Amino acid sequence: MRVYLDNAATTPIDPEVVIAMTDVLSNVYGNPSAQHAIGRNAKGLMEISRRKIAELINAKPSEILFTSGGTEADNIVIRSSVRDLGVKHIITSPIEHHAVLSTVEEMHHQGLAEMHLVNINDEGEIDYKHLEELATTYPGSLITLMHANNEIGTLLDIKKASEISKKHQCLFHSDTVQTMGHYKIDVQEMGMDFLACSAHKFNGPKGIGFLYLKSNQKLKSLITGGGQEKNLRAGTENIHGIVGLARALEISNSIMAEKQKRLQGYKSLMKDLIESQIPGVAFNGVAEPDKSLYTVLNVSLPPNPAGEMLLFKLDIDGVCASGGSACSSGASAGSHVLAAIHHPDDRTGVRFSFGKYTTEEDIRFAVDVLKKVISE
Ligand SMILES: Cc1ncc(COP(=O)(O)O)c(C=O)c1O
Repeated sequence: MRVYLDNAATTPIDPEVVIAMTDVLSNVYGNPSAQHAIGRNAKGLMEISRRKIAELINAKPSEILFTSGGTEADNIVIRSSVRDLGVKHIITSPIEHHAVLSTVEEMHHQGLAEMHLVNINDEGEIDYKHLEELATTYPGSLITLMHANNEIGTLLDIKKASEISKKHQCLFHSDTVQTMGHYKIDVQEMGMDFLACSAHKFNGPKGIGFLYLKSNQKLKSLITGGGQEKNLRAGTENIHGIVGLARALEISNSIMAEKQKRLQGYKSLMKDLIESQIPGVAFNGVAEPDKSLYTVLNVSLPPNPAGEMLLFKLDIDGVCASGGSACSSGASAGSHVLAAIHHPDDRTGVRFSFGKYTTEEDIRFAVDVLKKVISE
């Protein structure tokens, strides 16, 4: 048996999405910038997808810019805000994804914008008082805070953060890569200026995502070339990816309530089983299933003989899990998130993450394997 509990890294693609994409790959080859019927057909499909996505997040179609994924969307916001909107200060947190953190650090080291890190507690929650202090000291900053942390699942109070941002004339960006398709996202109600989305986190294809940019924000392209995407991103558009993204988001939103209830139940079940069967265990981040990202459970294991080899051993025994973000090579020791929440070095952090194809059997199997592996 093999169970896949690494859905925060990526998810299996939904067969219905494959059908929609295959249809485009087989039948729609036009360049959407071409004037003729074949090109207009491709453009039509792209615009239908854009409208669908806009509707699902309560935005205007013109506010959706297709990108290669979350990393690119985060980069456009940060780099273009500094280069084109005169941003001199960026307020962020020490537990952002590297797509944000490394980009902000680069701006800081190049002397283009100053980075200010908001304090967090040991569960990864933002200190909103400190956020307000930073925004008061540096009005007009770019504030970039992720909606849910990909390693420990702690959620941001996005409305509270956006209200603080507005009060101090800041720009507010949120990386919603881990929440899009799992929670209802309404850009009007949540009040963000920008958000980043990636299709492969909700059973869509890899290499496609979008940036929401509020219509009054005048970002500019990082890639020069043709005038695609209203001069915001040069290059012929990835039509099959765009159609796949829209279909995946549509499906995810339609099953959201059922999925949330079921996966929240699995998170509770796994937490309870681990707590009752593994002495000395703890959980990283806010672990209550109804108060944190329901797709992620980050387990902190006491020092055990498996140590650094834990993930490897889980894998050998049929459980795919992760030490944190997919980008950190598999060892939890390298996680900047666990370091920032003061996770003790002698303990091991393992992230189990759930998706719509996860079953109760997967959860029970994974706990049995975990128990076996750490007692060997
Ligand atoms: C929170 C977060 N932001 C950004 C990314 C990057 O997205 P992508 O893989 O589409 O570039 C990821 C996933 O890897 C993520 O979890």
